[in-house]
Amino acid sequence: MKKNLAIIVLAAGKGKRMKSAMPKALHQICGRPILGYVLDLASQLKPEKTVAVLGHKQELVREILPQGVEAAIQKNLNGTAGAVSAGLAKLGRFSGTVLVLCADIPLLTKAAVNKLIEFHQASQPAATVLTAQVKDSTGYGRILRDKYSSVSGIIEEKDANEYQKDIKEINTGIYCFAKAKLERALKRTKADNAGGEHYLTDCINILYQDGSLVESVALADADEGMGINSRSDLAKANAIMQKRINQKFMEEGVTIVDPATAFINYGTQIGQDTVIYPFTVVEKNVKIGKRCHLGPFIHLREGTRLEDEVIAGNFLEVTRSKLGSKTMVKHFAYLGDAVVGRQVNIGAGTVTANFDCGRKYSTSIGDHAFVGSDTVLVAPVKVGKHAKTGAGTVVLKNKNVPDGAIVVGVPARTLKK
Ligand code: UD1
Ligand code: CA
Repeated sequence: MKKNLAIIVLAAGKGKRMKSAMPKALHQICGRPILGYVLDLASQLKPEKTVAVLGHKQELVREILPQGVEAAIQKNLNGTAGAVSAGLAKLGRFSGTVLVLCADIPLLTKAAVNKLIEFHQASQPAATVLTAQVKDSTGYGRILRDKYSSVSGIIEEKDANEYQKDIKEINTGIYCFAKAKLERALKRTKADNAGGEHYLTDCINILYQDGSLVESVALADADEGMGINSRSDLAKANAIMQKRINQKFMEEGVTIVDPATAFINYGTQIGQDTVIYPFTVVEKNVKIGKRCHLGPFIHLREGTRLEDEVIAGNFLEVTRSKLGSKTMVKHFAYLGDAVVGRQVNIGAGTVTANFDCGRKYSTSIGDHAFVGSDTVLVAPVKVGKHAKTGAGTVVLKNKNVPDGAIVVGVPARTLKK
């Protein structure tokens, strides 16, 4: 366990530039709220305490806080300094390193933040700022340095002159502070700036002017420090996270034919030697076994489980369903709330009609069943083991097909028991 570390996660802001009714912290990349990634990082760092500062629509944001993370409320959304003050109030007598993380910076890795913490704790300055060198610094606070190249302050874009705007070294918005020094500096921030807010970045200027040591650690990969302020940032961050997820699966032995068109959410499991063809969407909480073939053009929605060697692809939607091993659904179909056994063949155009305008019902299809092309199974309904349906059959609800039976027609009638 890392000694003497507390984390404050800033998540109170409105996220005006998102133009959204939903708080920014809850916008998702790869199927997970951006704040979720940040809280996950916080927990991996094993601090003594994590406080999340909430404000705008706090009741919604609070829902995703895991156990052990305390909420602090910033009543007046007057800037990042106010947010940190609200967080500090929950740290009580803790006296060590305070790491500040932001809900809108979800791509940071544990390795990079560990480097920041280790540097800070080894050299013991008043503050260490995590910086990045970027090609386009638009929107970020710029790092100011004195003639000895020491960090002397941070200037926000709104307040920067033309010369300062040209600076390509940015403030990622992540810092380590010595708690006592931070507390004192926070009391002295003013809202006399173009944003009319109390800036946390002013604490860096205040500490420097007081003669306290301010250090910096630069990110090796500037992408990690990317802040999400707009929908366009959200799409960029999504693409970076998607690359990471796909890369991890490939390292684990999954073939992804075209990573650019494999949209696999955070929190999915995929077994070795599964092959993913182009235009595959896999939502979170989907489990896929070994040696499956998926796609092209398939949407596996939440709660879907494919056992080993399932072949599913060519225009298919599967939701909240389980498909047993070696089952094949090879051409356009919809399976919803279905439990399908092993070695089942589901013909082209098969639909489980699971919704009756009121609620959803389940369909069960036994091992070795053969569902003919264009079959509609009106749920709730069961198709027995080794049973067969003819092409174009409509099996009405509760008209279960017994094991081994063959049914045909609309509505289905039994040809053979
Ligand atoms: C901030 C930094 C900027 C840095 C950038 C990095 C300040 C003044 N500026 O700017 O130097 O380059 O991040 O991404 O800190 N928040 C609150 N309460 C508030 C205001 C904001 O909790 O009253 C939270 C937001 O929810 C967000 C974070 O603080 O998670 C940053 O706020 P944001 O408004 O996005 O700051 P930037 O303008 O991006
Ligand atoms: Ca931001």
